[in-house]
Amino acid sequence: MRLDKFICKSTELTRTEANQVINAGEVAVNDELITNEAVQVHENNAITLNGQRLKARSYRYILMHKPFGTICSNVDEVYPSVFNYIDIDRASELHITGRLDADTTGLILLTDDGRWSFNIISPNKQCEKVYRVALRDVIAGDVALKFKHGMQLQGENNLTLPAKLNIIGDKEVFLTITEGRHHQVKRMFAAVGNRVVSLHREKIGEISLDVEVGHWRYLTANEIDLF
Ligand code: URA
Repeated sequence: MRLDKFICKSTELTRTEANQVINAGEVAVNDELITNEAVQVHENNAITLNGQRLKARSYRYILMHKPFGTICSNVDEVYPSVFNYIDIDRASELHITGRLDADTTGLILLTDDGRWSFNIISPNKQCEKVYRVALRDVIAGDVALKFKHGMQLQGENNLTLPAKLNIIGDKEVFLTITEGRHHQVKRMFAAVGNRVVSLHREKIGEISLDVEVGHWRYLTANEIDLF
């Protein structure tokens, strides 16, 4: 992995701060001062910051297919928690990166790496989330343009960020958004006089849902590196 990434993984520094300490000559790899943040390192290398040996924290990253009628909370409430499906030690230390409503199905990501989650959730990072949406009424012709330009949702100060609508049937679409306001997809369709009857998340960034309902798997190193 890149040296700056290793520094982020093993300290509380942001990527910019990691670059600063590297460029300032505060980081050594196997006793050699390295000032290029893009240098590839291995976790077994002796990497020090101002003489202190750093150890990469081992975070966990999980992809799950959320079933209908489950909640994205660490505990059961009216509906059972998705954590009932994650049968690993210390599962309660994980959080969900972008929650789904109880009646929404599909891709959720769970991790204990807060910085990684931030890169997915923060609207500034422009990470695309793709939803398959079934609607009550036939989709009106001007909706794609309205979503593209941004919409005013009730109780919100700012317009929604540009969203992409891909119509696949009279009452069925793919919607791509880069933010995650409360009930955002349902509220966007309500704002154009329609109603979501079923909602399913297919994709987050380049990660697609590829496990059966209620199943999960660990992300690969390449998938983790995407964010
Ligand atoms: N938008 C919604 O309205 N609900 C979800 O679960 C996710 C996005």
